[in-house]
Amino acid sequence: MSFSSEQPKKRIFSGIQPTGNLHIGNYLGAIKNWISLQQDSETIYSIVDLHALTLDSNLETLNESVYEVTAAIIASGIDPQKSIIFNQSSVKEHSELCWVFNCVAKMGWLNRMTQFKEKAGKKRENASVGLYNYPILMAADILLYRATHVPVGDDQKQHLELTRDIATSFNHIFKNNLKNDFFTLPEPIISGPAKRIMSLKDGTKKMSKSELSDFSRINLTDNRDNIVKKIKKAKTDALPIPELETELTSRFEAQNLINIYAGLEDKSPQMVLDEYSGKGFADFKKDLTEILIEKITPISNNMLKLLKDKHEIERILTDGSLKARTIAEKVMCDIKKIIGFI
Ligand code: TYM
Repeated sequence: MSFSSEQPKKRIFSGIQPTGNLHIGNYLGAIKNWISLQQDSETIYSIVDLHALTLDSNLETLNESVYEVTAAIIASGIDPQKSIIFNQSSVKEHSELCWVFNCVAKMGWLNRMTQFKEKAGKKRENASVGLYNYPILMAADILLYRATHVPVGDDQKQHLELTRDIATSFNHIFKNNLKNDFFTLPEPIISGPAKRIMSLKDGTKKMSKSELSDFSRINLTDNRDNIVKKIKKAKTDALPIPELETELTSRFEAQNLINIYAGLEDKSPQMVLDEYSGKGFADFKKDLTEILIEKITPISNNMLKLLKDKHEIERILTDGSLKARTIAEKVMCDIKKIIGFI
């Protein structure tokens, strides 16, 4: 069978939920990589508003959050001239392909997903089916564009593995209708010291948008005062900064602050230790605060400026959606032919 959608040599896809409170975990774990990839690759970034429906707590602010998150990624350096930026619900093929993959993926695969277990918690019977199904929609997002690479934080690794399983399974189920595999398996890009940034209050918990205490994270909207207060209060331990990375393994909070510094400065954690070993955390925290202020405040100022013109944000999303749709329609049309729909 010949296809109208071509498999690109390199195409990047990633997504972010419009759930407010974007933080430095999102920035260092994902958005920073998105920015560098747009220099030499075809890049598609989605504000995944359909995913946000999976939790009731997101509904009230959904509309506002789409503007905010779009503004945040543009303010961070995603350029609408270089990257396709669009909101997921405006390309209906995401939902359409999700249904196809519902019929490819196995219950057992979804039952292993740790993020569902964490998010549903003890009230699993009350969790929406959408929350359970969440990783399948994510697979549809990626494979709808026949993406080859997906830059994400470490918490999305298992979802990426599931995406690869779904792609393999689809290729296998429909092998008699195909000359070659239709989907190439997308590679995750999960790299650097900041792939998993932890809470400032508890180094064993991931930094998260939904954590109740604002002191657990540095938001991209934080001003100088907030950053100073939050880093001052950030948990550390009484020991000095060590010489070697291996000495940080059970010092979770210390390790996290070193990783944040390394991520912001594009250094390895060892390079940061070389600079600070033997010192206490007071000096280190002062420097970290200054670096954070230097990186975050231009983003938050820029974001506030962009949010003053919501029509412009809508224009960017509409333009991105048109471009995304051009790719998605062709791929979905091929998928329907492969399945045998008339
Ligand atoms: P979301 O909105 O939770 O997070 C957006 C990106 O930020 C990364 N991230 C982190 N990285 C390091 N440390 C942290 N503490 C941290 N917290 C979040 C996430 O790994 C992510 O890359 N399921 C996705 C959205 C999505 C998607 C996709 C991603 C939907 N479809 C297709 C890639 C491809 C999510 O909830 O991201």
